[in-house]
Amino acid sequence: MSPAADRGLKWQPRAAIFCPRAFYLTETHGEKYARLGYHRCAGLSTLIMATAYLQCIEEACGERQDPRKDAHQCASCGGLLEVRYEFDPYEPETLRRAWHQRRLSGEPIDRSGVWRFRELIPFVNPTDRIISLSEGSTPLTGTRRAGWWAGPVHLTIKHQGNNPTGSFKDLGMTACITRAASRNVRRVACASTGNTSSSMAAYAARAGMKSILFVPYRQISAAKLAQALDFGAIVVEVGDTFDQAFGLLRQIAPEFRLYLVNSVNPFRIEGQKTIVAELMEQRAWRPPDYIVVPGGNLGNASAIGKGLRELKEMGFIEKVPKIVVIQAAGANPFYRTFSSGSAELIPVDPPQTEATAIRIGRPANWKKGIRVLQWSGGLSESVTDEEIFEAKRVLAEDGVGCEPASAATVAGVRKLCRAGKIERHADVVAILTGHQLKDTDYIMRHRSEGEENSRRLRVEASLEALRKVLEQALARG
Ligand SMILES: Cc1ncc(COP(=O)(O)O)c(C=O)c1O
Ligand SMILES: [Zn+2]
Repeated sequence: MSPAADRGLKWQPRAAIFCPRAFYLTETHGEKYARLGYHRCAGLSTLIMATAYLQCIEEACGERQDPRKDAHQCASCGGLLEVRYEFDPYEPETLRRAWHQRRLSGEPIDRSGVWRFRELIPFVNPTDRIISLSEGSTPLTGTRRAGWWAGPVHLTIKHQGNNPTGSFKDLGMTACITRAASRNVRRVACASTGNTSSSMAAYAARAGMKSILFVPYRQISAAKLAQALDFGAIVVEVGDTFDQAFGLLRQIAPEFRLYLVNSVNPFRIEGQKTIVAELMEQRAWRPPDYIVVPGGNLGNASAIGKGLRELKEMGFIEKVPKIVVIQAAGANPFYRTFSSGSAELIPVDPPQTEATAIRIGRPANWKKGIRVLQWSGGLSESVTDEEIFEAKRVLAEDGVGCEPASAATVAGVRKLCRAGKIERHADVVAILTGHQLKDTDYIMRHRSEGEENSRRLRVEASLEALRKVLEQALARG
């Protein structure tokens, strides 16, 4: 592989360089509603032309933003931003075929489960370097025991732990760091419950950027911290909660010119939303009844909702799956806000749960999350740590490992089925967000208690002793 290819991927700019529309848009960058994106030439690396821009999500405002400023908040009202597109005409069927075909390609960009669907995220310039680690393309696996236990429902698992750094965050990070690289960013930063930091550190290393990470002191799993250190991040342990670390980072970031890659960065959402295109393709474009995610900062639920809304508007799907957000009982601000119909966030301070990935008391994307649940007719539920462990145990019986936060999905489905809010035999996809090995401390704690501990045997090194211990262990069944 050439050194250039090894450090990242590049759109081939041949045709685009001579595209008069591309030049036109570059020249008009200064206009009031200047465009973020550039028209790109059909037949080159993308099949449709589109223009991208940033817009405030607040209905009362909805202002388009100046693309020369890399803001995460509306300049007028402080609301969250999202990336919007205007597409030139296209044929959904042509795109479907192309996406399918790219799976056979040897090009790294086509093998990425994010960039394979690049027509859905056309915010890059043809000459931008794509910072990819072959993310996405994760398996969709049926379950037997877990689906029966949770419902019975027809439960399939979309396992995002099978990503380069072991979590769904890689989908958003490839998009966000690609965007950062195109803006010549040198330093990226995030506050994190662990997975965003591992992902940021890996993609920043790939792009040759410095990464700085804020984590609450002693609150993230050792494995996630180890990943970030391994990829060369500067780790700042500050505050007792994610919310505190994030608040401090947001205040200090401008002073040190740190580019924020938390999920308030709208480009993160763009990468993460491609999961729904991959999921629908794996299901022959038949949407399930429900898509269930664990909720922390609500970036993932927002991304899934945005992805589905766009797929529907673009004519790829008709039915909209209901999006279901599950939170841990000790860290359930979104559940409380959504189920009470409150117009303001009901924070939880301090949040408490063993599922550290979703130990968040003031989710930054809560408004996007509410919008997505309202649009899809979705649900939210809250489950105890005991219920989470129970679900994780049942998944393990199906041979499916995941981190505790991910298992909250299956615990939530069970609770919603018991309450009659999800119907028996419904078609449910649970998004397992993180890999089993992300939190081995949790496993060791739970699997070393009482009955569980009887499966861990320390034996003297003799055949006689072994025989005795094995006989006893196997007799227990
Ligand atoms: C494993 C895992 N699951 C779920 C979440 C929550 O995702 P979000 O913050 O997008 O709601 C996180 C966030 O850190 C996570 O790491
Ligand atoms: Zn606004």
